[in-house]
Amino acid sequence: KHILVLHGPNLNMLGVREPGIYGHQTLADIDARLSQLCVEQDAGCAVFQSNHEGELVDRIQAARHDETEFIIINAGAYTHTSIAIRDALAAVGIPFIEVHLSNVYKRESFRHHSYLSDQAVGVIAGLGPAGYEAALRYALAH
Ligand code: DQA
Repeated sequence: KHILVLHGPNLNMLGVREPGIYGHQTLADIDARLSQLCVEQDAGCAVFQSNHEGELVDRIQAARHDETEFIIINAGAYTHTSIAIRDALAAVGIPFIEVHLSNVYKRESFRHHSYLSDQAVGVIAGLGPAGYEAALRYALAH
């Protein structure tokens, strides 16, 4: 099973970035845990972070050619702005789960709309790093 985990802008700053909202774990901590799960489950997991919308689009397009069967994506602020990322996910037709560390619904109203949610298999928000893990377990089982 091949899973692609995508992290959008500013997620490289986890650990130092607004720890009251996003917690103290770094992206490396989260990725290490996900990689460990993938090894345990004998799955191939690729992880990619970018602060650039076009690079995320390019990586989603590349997933067509690398046997990716499921995408787990935290698009960060692009969740609320990016028709391009939505279109890329639709173009490749690979099922995806949308993840947010924070509960976006108890934050500013501009975080309540997502360009991805209505296309996602499911959405997880507010569970911190455990949300990625739940998404990964689901992707591995389906
Ligand atoms: C986020 C929520 C977004 O609103 C925000 O722009 C982020 C992170 C989250 O994981 O909670 O960068 O996607």
